[in-house]
Amino acid sequence: MRVKGSSKRGSGRSVGTIKVKSGSPAKAAGKSAIKAKATTKPLARSAGKGAARVIVNGSNGHGAHTAMSANGSARVKHPGGVEHSTLHLFKSGEMLGGKPIIYVNGRMLPKKDAMVSVYDHGLLYGDGVFEGIRVYNGKIFKCGQHMERLWRCAEAIRMSIPVSRDEMVQIMRDCIEANNLRDGYIRLVVSRGAGTLGLDPRKCPVAGVICIADQIQLYPKELYEAGMKIIVAKRPRTPIECLDPRIKSLNYLNNILAKVEAIDAGCHEAIMLNLEGNVCECTGDNIFIIRNGKVCTPPTESGILEGITRRFVMDLCREMEIPCEFRNMKPEEVKSADEVFLTGSAAEIIAVTQIDDIRVGTGGEGPVTRKLREAFRRVVTSDAVPED
Ligand SMILES: Cc1ncc(COP(=O)(O)O)c(C=O)c1O
Repeated sequence: MRVKGSSKRGSGRSVGTIKVKSGSPAKAAGKSAIKAKATTKPLARSAGKGAARVIVNGSNGHGAHTAMSANGSARVKHPGGVEHSTLHLFKSGEMLGGKPIIYVNGRMLPKKDAMVSVYDHGLLYGDGVFEGIRVYNGKIFKCGQHMERLWRCAEAIRMSIPVSRDEMVQIMRDCIEANNLRDGYIRLVVSRGAGTLGLDPRKCPVAGVICIADQIQLYPKELYEAGMKIIVAKRPRTPIECLDPRIKSLNYLNNILAKVEAIDAGCHEAIMLNLEGNVCECTGDNIFIIRNGKVCTPPTESGILEGITRRFVMDLCREMEIPCEFRNMKPEEVKSADEVFLTGSAAEIIAVTQIDDIRVGTGGEGPVTRKLREAFRRVVTSDAVPED
């Protein structure tokens, strides 16, 4: 365990403040010096001048070793792993047949051999964070923002990622290359790692890193033209004070139980409400409505994951001069909107045409949704897919 005097990075926002009392000796944390502060507000990245930050596992990342391969690209050795990338074996065809080839703790392995310890706290307790990222035209869409969010989330659960950001990007590029991916989806998981039975994250010396580069089809293809039916879940979203949804953690049970409600109702998605009855988001995507030509989406404070696709759609709105605002909304307002659509890395942009038994708008994809979806497609099929 390590205590740092202040945050290293100064930009952006943090999803959680992790503090110990100023001056607390690191060893005191053996008992209960680690104090997490739940908050509803975006927090400054740094825990503040006098605050110290506890890193529970690893060496804040930078203990990973990077080797240069023959073709000059960096290969990352996970400090908890045992060998360098075996990418060359896949390229030479020796290990083909197990696609996708997956990065697991420093090794590139065929799917059938890609495994983690049963003592991994990601599995035992959902202790870890993840990202879902699209690859378009061989580029990692909004790579910079995904890395930023992943590091922010790891920091919020006091977990040190055992590779640097550059190394993580290189791991993704290795996986893209190993699987000849042009268009696809990357699942990046950073789990607390293998430890002992019991919650204590300090018993997990090195966080685990998994990178899967594969395909994803969240909803049937035809629904992207026709739009889809969703419901309003009865189960509310976990309040921010309990588990801030801005932390993209491995704990998705709240969402899964709402998704089960959707499945029981014969559809694919469910709107989740907070304890005040305001709309937050769906189980795996953010939600937008359009009323009188104006686009609205719930604010962060309603209890949402700050989606990277959501942000990109807001950027598109700005460029296309479509007014866009954050506003709390009751489900009735969403049901009576002119148009409703969902956004997410996996979902991309998809229209909602029915909520519970209420038809939305004209019952098909509306004109503003279509304009935004087409603009999105133009960008992601272009030669200039943004990696920022
Ligand atoms: C609960 C939830 N909300 C929103 C999103 C959309 O986020 P992004 O656009 O960053 O993929 C996701 C994506 O996984 C999600 O799980």
